[in-house]
Amino acid sequence: MRFIIYFIACIALALSSCKNENNPSQSEKVRNMIAASKLAQDAHSYSRPNEIRVKHLTWNARVDFDKKIIEATAIYELQHLAPADEVVLDVKALNITSVQVDDIEVKYAVSEEKPFIGASLTIPVKRDSKQIAISYNTTEGAEALLWMEGEQPFLFTQSQAVLARTWIPCQDSPGVRITYDATVKVSPGLMALMSATNPTEKTVDGVYHFKMDQPISTYLMALAVGDVSFRSLGNRTGVYATKDLIDVSAKEFEDMQAMLEAAEKLYGPYAWGRYDVLVLPAAFPFGGMENPRLTFATPTILAGDKSLVSLIAHELAHSWSGNLVTNSTWDDFWLNEGFTVYFEERIMEEVYGREYSEMLALLNKQDLERSVEEISAINADDTKLKLTLVNRNPDDGMTDIAYNKGYFFLRLCEEQVGREKWDDFLKKYFSEHAFQVMDTERFLDYLRKNLASERIEEKVNIEEWVYKPGIPSNIPIVNSNRMELAKSSATKFAQNGDTKAIRWSEWSYQEKVAFLTNMPAPNLMQIKQLDKSFSISSTKNNEVLFAWLDLAIITEYKEAYPQLEEFLIRVGRRKFVAPLYERLISTNQKDIAKEIYQKARPNYHSVTINTIDEMIK
Ligand code: BES
Ligand code: ZN
Repeated sequence: MRFIIYFIACIALALSSCKNENNPSQSEKVRNMIAASKLAQDAHSYSRPNEIRVKHLTWNARVDFDKKIIEATAIYELQHLAPADEVVLDVKALNITSVQVDDIEVKYAVSEEKPFIGASLTIPVKRDSKQIAISYNTTEGAEALLWMEGEQPFLFTQSQAVLARTWIPCQDSPGVRITYDATVKVSPGLMALMSATNPTEKTVDGVYHFKMDQPISTYLMALAVGDVSFRSLGNRTGVYATKDLIDVSAKEFEDMQAMLEAAEKLYGPYAWGRYDVLVLPAAFPFGGMENPRLTFATPTILAGDKSLVSLIAHELAHSWSGNLVTNSTWDDFWLNEGFTVYFEERIMEEVYGREYSEMLALLNKQDLERSVEEISAINADDTKLKLTLVNRNPDDGMTDIAYNKGYFFLRLCEEQVGREKWDDFLKKYFSEHAFQVMDTERFLDYLRKNLASERIEEKVNIEEWVYKPGIPSNIPIVNSNRMELAKSSATKFAQNGDTKAIRWSEWSYQEKVAFLTNMPAPNLMQIKQLDKSFSISSTKNNEVLFAWLDLAIITEYKEAYPQLEEFLIRVGRRKFVAPLYERLISTNQKDIAKEIYQKARPNYHSVTINTIDEMIK
């Protein structure tokens, strides 16, 4: 309690002496105060950041492809916020070799490992200790890492939600922000990249230096190593990819600079300097990951016609929602993802027009409705925006609820208060909370206060949207004639087998997906007919291919099975592969699922493996 009063007094003092915002040293003081503000208890971290907080990381690492380990030292500067005799970090599957406090070796303790959250690393310190240095190496159990051998060696990390601790000991809670610099040694011929200032050329000696001067959460720590090259796309944007993909990637992402400018026009200046994208191997378990300054992306969005670039808009939007204003714990995940889907849609509307973005929104709505149905059958509480993930894998909260229920809640707010006022509100929200944490309750408070004059409380049933399960009845209506037509042509085709109403070659990918996912009772004859008429099996759009392969499984369209197998082995993106295995299992084809998985598993990242292992036990 005393600490809280002291802290409030400090903030008040700093704010009162900071009337002049142009005085940098004063506003710096306020920033420091905010940075030291009390954090919520995080069920997914052992750390105690309200006592001692790590501030700056100096990371020296050597990447060893032969042994598949990273050998490193992590040096942290400490900030003492309350009396404490030890500092606690999160670790998982790390082999710690020594710990020093202010250059003196100390005895440390690593607790027994628990599922998901791993172990605590407890280091004794004095009240004025300044620095801790941890020497360690990663092990085979480093779930963040995927090592790819062969002709094209590649290593990448995926830290969100709680995997940063498997390659760097850290206070691994989203509320804790650190700055960092790093020196990474890799084999000559490879380039190393991080969520920081990055090289654009390979060095002769394989040594690379990185700097991240803006405080970021540890789930945004990222490293990739591979034989990649860089291509500039605009004065602040560019792309990294392997030789075989650099040309197509540069073409696919040519609108990136326009997206960045559209985003800034909407919600204020981009805070991170450059925005680049790294195209990863297809084993990457996600579509994209918003690592600051360098989004990691799956190559499955390279459709050849820019049709899947909304994913880039999404990761770019995280530069505000998530990376600037960050969910306090994973229970508030919707603050990261719901805002980002909303922002993504707005960027898409700016760059490609409303008709186009409404087609995307319609797919969001369909996904939401289907997910709510599925999740409700298991645990209706998981369809609330505010989650309770204590003692659970934070991954359990990674559903369409956070993304799309979050999106429609914010869209409803926009529609009720009007776009102009809503945009002013969001712009102010991002600028006033930059580099801070946010939880659901503080956001709702801010929303109610700032939009009281718009009578937000009367117009939007906030409590129901955030704290109740299911979809409230006032969910916004999505207007898309084109999507409705695509859906109704699916019904018609089912009735009379007539393909005339199907304008396949004129359709956007969204219309194609709407058609394929709304076939009333697909049968083998129809699938054969569709493939014959439109060669759907040879589509270059992986969202369409995914919907198609799902239909192939349902109808046991065996001609497509070699392709299904090839896809499941080459691609590790969980959003695609998990539902396909699931479909095989639910349609009595588990033996096929098992057979393919046996071949595919060695190529998958732990995130995907953990999910599929559960299904194919
Ligand atoms: N930050 C997420 C990915 C993530 C979330 C990783 C939670 C681990 C835990 C990223 O921004 C994301 O949402 N990716 C989506 C793409 C998007 C367009 C919805 C994906 O990977 O499919
Ligand atoms: Zn996201």
